[in-house]
This record gives sequence, structure tokens and C-alpha cells, in this order.
Amino acid sequence: MKGIILAGGTGSRLRPMTSILNKHLLPVGNYPMIHYALNKMAEAGIDDILLVIGKSSAGLYVDYIGSGAPWGIQVSYKVQEEAGGIAQALGLAESFVRPGEKLLVLLGDNLFEDSLKTAVKDFETNESGAWVFLKQVADPRRYGVPELENGRISRILEKPEQPPSEYAVTGMYLYESDVFDIIRSVRPSTRGELEITDVNNVYASEGRLGYSHLSGWWTDAGTQQSLLEAGLRLTGYEKP
Ligand code: DAU
Repeated sequence: MKGIILAGGTGSRLRPMTSILNKHLLPVGNYPMIHYALNKMAEAGIDDILLVIGKSSAGLYVDYIGSGAPWGIQVSYKVQEEAGGIAQALGLAESFVRPGEKLLVLLGDNLFEDSLKTAVKDFETNESGAWVFLKQVADPRRYGVPELENGRISRILEKPEQPPSEYAVTGMYLYESDVFDIIRSVRPSTRGELEITDVNNVYASEGRLGYSHLSGWWTDAGTQQSLLEAGLRLTGYEKP
């Protein structure tokens, strides 16, 4: 299975820090944010990884990660010229994935406790076209939120005013290689981005979207508060 880490985007919610340093290089606990996604890939047994980065701070990623040797993995890089959305960033990985090969996608600002090793192994033989991981949250309106019907996800609503459940669709996704055909079929949302939620909804409408619940803590570190909380958790000041 291939691994894709998405670390493009603008990090606008973390300005002014992100005016001088890309979000995924900001310190979280004792390491730059990107360190944790690489750890999670290595822990899941995925050793061939494409890192999609923006133009800002691009050289600093190579300074820190190099070829991926410190993690025992192989890291390649691709530059997303402009923030066109998560699905657009993922589309840049098409030539990196062979037809029929599966992929694990991590959003670079998602920090979490669970190991994905078992989920990755299970997905190799799973019939689902895509798999998402849910976490119960206090304010689902900040996230993609699943509507659950008879044990299935019927659809996902992106940042809904009235959430249909108390769960967030977290930023870890497993896909078949047909995800790239689906990305080509989706159109920009009202905020002008190719939304990963629209991609996942194609799988949901075809009955090919599986899910499981994360048992450990999870946070995205995309806001000042969540960045601080993530740092506290990862340095052990705040127990999950
Ligand atoms: O954190 C989980 C949430 O992530 C999901 O619940 C939502 O469904 C999903 O849309 C996403 O929401 P956000 O609004 O938090 O996404 P954000 O724009 O902050 O981007 C998240 C990561 O994706 C970020 O670390 C970098 C990467 N990204 C984002 C964009 C827009 C890219 O690589 N390129 C992009 O153009």
C-alpha cells in the first residue's frame, strides 16, 4: 500500500505564524507537526510515501525529512502550486499509485493516538472502495459529519450548521486507486475547493464507504487552540 501525506494549503487559521512558516512545520510538543504523520505511516507498515507540500517552506521539509531514512521509509515530494482543496492535492498523487494499488491518506494537521496498522492490513482484503475513521467530538460543525443509517454512512455533510450526528470524519482515509477517477468527476465547492467529502460521498452513494471508530484521542491542529492542546497531549502534560 502507498502512503500520501497532504501538507499543502494555506494555514490561514494559524496566521501570523504561518506567514513565515508552513503550518506543518510548526512545533507540536517536541517535534514539527509533520513528524507525527511520518511516524504514523511507519507504524502502519507503509514505507513508500508521497508528501504533498505547498511552495512556502518547501526546502525546510527536505532539511528535516530528507529521503525519509530516519523513519526507515522512502519519501518523495510533490508541490501543490495553489491550495485547491484536499481532493485536488490528493489528485496530484495519481502517478505515484499503480492501478489496483491501495492508498492510505493522512492530512498533515491531524494528530491522533490510534495505530492504523490493523486497519491498513484489513483494508488490503476489504471489499470497500474507501474507509474513514470517526471520532465523537464536542462541536461537529467544524468538520465533515457523517449521517449514519442502519450501520452505514449514507452521506457526509461538510461543516454543517445542523450536524446529523456527533461524529467527525477524521483526516485519515483509505482508498482504492479508483479514487483518482472520482476526483476527476467532482466539481469545486462554494468555497472554490475540490472537497474530500464530495469524493467520499461518491463511495457512500455506491455503498462502498466503510468506517470504524477511533478509540484514542484525535485532534486536528489547524487552530491556535487545537495546536496548543495537541502539544500538551503529545508531551504528556494532558492525559488522553
Ligand atoms: O481534520 C478533519 C477535517 O479535515 C475533516 O473533518 C473535513 O471533512 C475535511 O474537509 C478537513 O477539513 P478542514 O477545513 O479542517 O481542512 P483544511 O483546509 O484545514 O486542510 C486540512 C489539511 O489538508 C491540511 O493539513 C493541509 C491539507 N491540504 C488542504 C488544502 C485545502 C492540502 O494539502 N491542500 C489544500 O489545498
